[in-house]
Amino acid sequence: MNSFINESNFLKGNNAEDLASKFGTPLYVYSEEILRNRMHNVSQVITKYPYTANYSVKANTNINILKLAIEENINCDAMSVGEMTLLLKAGMPEERIFFVPNNVSEDEIEFAIHNGIMTSLDSLCQLERYGEVCERLGLNEDDNARRCAVRINPGVGAGHHEKVVTGGKKTKFGISESDIDKIFEITKKYNLKIAGINQHIGSLFMEPTPYLEAVKNILRISERFGKLDFIDFGGGYGIPYHKLDDEKDFPMEDFKAKLEVILDEFVEKVGYVPLFKSEPGRYCVAEGSFILSRVHAIKENNGIHFAGCDCGMNVLVRPSMYDSWHDIEVIRDGKIVNRENLKTLTVCGNICESGDLLAKDRELPEIKKDDLLAILDTGAYGWSMCSTYNSRPRPAEVMICKDGSVKEIRRRETIEDLMRLF
Ligand SMILES: Cc1ncc(COP(=O)(O)O)c(C=O)c1O
Repeated sequence: MNSFINESNFLKGNNAEDLASKFGTPLYVYSEEILRNRMHNVSQVITKYPYTANYSVKANTNINILKLAIEENINCDAMSVGEMTLLLKAGMPEERIFFVPNNVSEDEIEFAIHNGIMTSLDSLCQLERYGEVCERLGLNEDDNARRCAVRINPGVGAGHHEKVVTGGKKTKFGISESDIDKIFEITKKYNLKIAGINQHIGSLFMEPTPYLEAVKNILRISERFGKLDFIDFGGGYGIPYHKLDDEKDFPMEDFKAKLEVILDEFVEKVGYVPLFKSEPGRYCVAEGSFILSRVHAIKENNGIHFAGCDCGMNVLVRPSMYDSWHDIEVIRDGKIVNRENLKTLTVCGNICESGDLLAKDRELPEIKKDDLLAILDTGAYGWSMCSTYNSRPRPAEVMICKDGSVKEIRRRETIEDLMRLF
């Protein structure tokens, strides 16, 4: 692939240089078409049985993107009161929200209960706390809020970096299979009913086998709970971050076919059909955005050629935090520069940290001062992980709508915004 932006018709006739002059840089640019398309794909992962995809909103909480999830008929997972509030404000009905927190306070649990949001508890201690809140609120024995879920630690994990592997004996998440009897003691003590179980093995796998093995595992574990309303397999489907080198997509069709065989066997064995769920974040939004960044300086330090731009680690932290790869396209005078005559370059940001690198020793077309860079696949864990480090206001976000019009979906933060809290 020579240019994702051109080949996916991302800009729909808009010019990158015009966007940069109108909205400034760094700028998160989204494609409504790609976002809708990926959200639709995840809604079709299981078609034979009752199924909902829950978009894991931590990947991107822009309220306009949450509205797309509502329209594309996918539900959502939230991790905090902030995420639940954003979802409610976006218009997501409470029964389509699943609160999947860890280590939360009574107030946070109470918020979910008051808003009629199903909660999954991630430890025996949190389950007990949930029971205590129900008692304190004086809920009737048959109150809907006495129905909750538990997150199981599947004992195995997978992912692109040790920091995103969330299943496995050594991670902080979920309740071990060996503690299931203790779950029943707590539910009995507080008149709780386990309506469903969930898990999440980790983030960004391109090969479905570990996920499918984890599905088999949680289905086996589910039998300990009798008839459940729902079983949630978690998220983690990867996207091709090396797309300019022709990396293949996550093999969705193959995955769906294999998953269906596993579900057929389960349903036949247990004789009932629960609602199945998944929790994809990255897959829904990552490819639907790139960051437009202006190059402000070029320099050579001891043989290393640096291109310094305004996309620092405060704007996109993934490369510094996880050594993540983001493909980069170079734009000069509004046109993508062909990927030929490549040079070894290190692309860095404007933050006072030596780890503020977007790409190290990368083969790229020559970059000149005032060029624009398109940093690809930044829709997931991009803006949602932004910070104001070095007192830099956070960037604006714009959406290229299906009809080619451009909508500012979050204005750029200002220095006054930063001052407001003092
Ligand atoms: C509990 C839970 N569910 C879902 C996700 C979404 O993962 P991904 O964005 O890789 O699909 C995460 C990510 O960390 C998570 O912790």
